[in-house]
Amino acid sequence: MQTRLLQQMNQPVSAIGLGCMGMSEFYGDSDDSQSLALLDKALELGINFFDSADTYGFGHNETLLGQFLANHKAQREQIVMATKFGIVRAKGQYERRLDNSPDYIKQACHDSLQRLGTEYIDLYYCHRRDHKTPVEDMMQTLSALVKQGDIRGIGLSEVSSATLRQAHAIHPITAVQSEYSLWSRQPEEDLLQTCRELGVSFVAYSPLGRAFLTGKLETENLAADDFRHAVPRLQGEALIDNQQIVQQFSQLAGKWQYSNAQLCLAWMLNKHPHVIPIAGTRHEKYLMENAKAADIVLKSQQIDELDKLFSPNKIAGARYPKAGWGGIEK
Ligand SMILES: NC(=O)c1ccc[n+]([C@@H]2O[C@H](COP(=O)([O-])OP(=O)(O)OC[C@H]3O[C@@H](n4cnc5c(N)ncnc54)[C@H](OP(=O)(O)O)[C@@H]3O)[C@@H](O)[C@H]2O)c1
Repeated sequence: MQTRLLQQMNQPVSAIGLGCMGMSEFYGDSDDSQSLALLDKALELGINFFDSADTYGFGHNETLLGQFLANHKAQREQIVMATKFGIVRAKGQYERRLDNSPDYIKQACHDSLQRLGTEYIDLYYCHRRDHKTPVEDMMQTLSALVKQGDIRGIGLSEVSSATLRQAHAIHPITAVQSEYSLWSRQPEEDLLQTCRELGVSFVAYSPLGRAFLTGKLETENLAADDFRHAVPRLQGEALIDNQQIVQQFSQLAGKWQYSNAQLCLAWMLNKHPHVIPIAGTRHEKYLMENAKAADIVLKSQQIDELDKLFSPNKIAGARYPKAGWGGIEK
């Protein structure tokens, strides 16, 4: 697997990381022994960048990754474990409150370390800004956690360029994580450029459009509690419109002899040297297929064609339901 550098930490990571959220919540049932086998396989393929959050499965995801770390003690230094704080939900609820207060961060970090069974978190993200806690207070707390060795690097998720600049001036930010894919292009407005200018990596979440862009998502067969039922762009007329674009995308991918998923990942890797997609999967065949995308070289005409096919004005519907927009900065 090709690598990319988390510049501020001078830490190489696999060019494609593994998003672990679906192993605990949001996309229907999962099986822990299958998830652990998949994590082993990822490591075997050279994938060393794993993404979690305390809120995924209400701690379940971190506990699962703790089991994985325990099974790979000798490789701990090779593994780059990322997790997040700041979204607080009652068990079983999607509705949330946000908390970036110093006391909350210290407790959340302690709890994540316990669940992961590790002495340090490699990359610790603020999952969403709470807008009550000044950036200075949050960053000073995180900076102190770096100094005491609890975390190695600081990340921010779904922040604006202005917040990134403000935070980066207090302590270097290792990575910004935001939704970015062919059909979610908002970071192209300025955030990707700000990251590049500051030497901050950009971690692209939901790079496969939560499976929709793969052309294999059967929305009518999703489990009753699958989060994607609530995503406006996967509903009603918006879904029908978006499906037409994905059909054209599937034809193009077929013509170029890649899978849709591979083309989603290769598109952003070829476009930006500082972007690291974290594709989520629970299936070995998908993991292997996605990993191959790191070697795909696209011509600039191919990138342009994809840019145009998915031009933002053609995408119907919002990427989050109302309750999901809290803390997402423009
Ligand atoms: N910072 C944030 O606020 C935030 C928000 C959302 C997600 N994330 C992070 O980003 C990670 C990735 O995002 P995501 O999981 O939402 O979406 P994603 O990576 O765009 O898509 C994951 C979905 O695509 C399917 N899939 C994967 N590879 C495939 C392939 N080759 N062919 C067909 N289907 C394929 C997966 O299926 P199976 O699972 O069934 O294999 C899963 O349903 C998450 O795991 C999480 O760590 C962060």
